[in-house]
Amino acid sequence: MAAESDSADDSFESSNPTPIGVKLGSTRTVLRYREADADEMTTVRTLTCLALYEDAITGDEKALFGEQAAAEYPDRVEYMLRSGLPEDDDRAELASRFFREQLSANGVPQDSAVVYAIPTMENDAGLENLTEVIESSDIGAHTMRAYPESLCGAIPAMGDGVEAVSDVFISVNMGSTNLEACAYRRGDQLVPFSTGSVTGNDVDRRIVANVEEETQGRVHVDLTTAREYKEEHGDVGDFEPFSDVIQQPGGGSHEFTIADSVVDALDWYLDAAVDEVANEFLPEPANDYMKVYQLSLGNDIALTGGMACIPGLPEEFQRRLSAELDRDVNVVVPDEPDLAAAEGARRIAEKLADQ
Ligand SMILES: Nc1ncnc2c1ncn2[C@@H]1O[C@H](COP(=O)(O)OP(=O)(O)OP(=O)(O)O)[C@@H](O)[C@H]1O
Ligand SMILES: [Mg+2]
Repeated sequence: MAAESDSADDSFESSNPTPIGVKLGSTRTVLRYREADADEMTTVRTLTCLALYEDAITGDEKALFGEQAAAEYPDRVEYMLRSGLPEDDDRAELASRFFREQLSANGVPQDSAVVYAIPTMENDAGLENLTEVIESSDIGAHTMRAYPESLCGAIPAMGDGVEAVSDVFISVNMGSTNLEACAYRRGDQLVPFSTGSVTGNDVDRRIVANVEEETQGRVHVDLTTAREYKEEHGDVGDFEPFSDVIQQPGGGSHEFTIADSVVDALDWYLDAAVDEVANEFLPEPANDYMKVYQLSLGNDIALTGGMACIPGLPEEFQRRLSAELDRDVNVVVPDEPDLAAAEGARRIAEKLADQ
């Protein structure tokens, strides 16, 4: 028996832990890892939400998470990271529960080296709560580390390995609740900047208002529908009008076409994002680190986060930022901007697991 428990302990210190990258985002949570002997990378991507319900037979409290929770329990589903970080103990507990459910549903390996991509925000209590969620999880028996999301996201944009970690460059992360920008010098954050005033969620809210206006008050869509319009039809420069139908409670239906609502919201977002980066963020490194500033503006600027998935948006961001700065800057995006932070985190985990 003793030998058996020894071998169980040994497995925790195995020399072959699975490198895992994790991004617990306010809209979606993403995990990236390669299962033992698998050729393909596994990507787990779910909405960061949880719904609790009572088992009709046993009376036990049960939990549903992700898309299923959002679809079946729209009335009580909780997006516990809605503001980016778990605000209080209750949300931290819900986030832990969500993460546990997600890990066990996917059989994510416990013997793992895990790197978490975490947002850069001046919210110590929230960050502490997030740390709790991370530390209470079953994965990461070998290694557990956190790196800034905008660094992790830049990694797959800047090369096939982890070149970004030894580079000097600027990264801009376009999320649901935040716009982050930071200069990185060999992995070190210089003057991290974050604002909650230019976000993917703002675009959704604007789409709701625009749709109401565009349909002369006939159509009111909810935020989830607005987000879907943006994710499915959003396109900067090559937008096609689309139609949708609302069902009336009495049985009738009303078809309407959206031509400007999404485009206008994205246009606002681009101008506002360029303004924040050029006029709020960049003056800091320009003053405090003049040489680094010049060096990093001459290098590629990495653009990551879900909003960078919108076709044409990175190109237009580059164009407007160049115009605003009155110099040519070059913007690079990873293949899958919404998965990039998890992929970058996984690549760091790979290095850590090798040590
Ligand atoms: N094709 C797409 N796939 C995923 N997200 C998209 C897509 N297009 C636009 N988005 C938007 O990107 C945002 C999500 O970005 P991301 O996943 O980087 O955010 P997050 O890390 O959860 O949020 P934050 O860091 O702000 O808390 C949402 O507003 C989402 O609607
Ligand atoms: Mg984010």
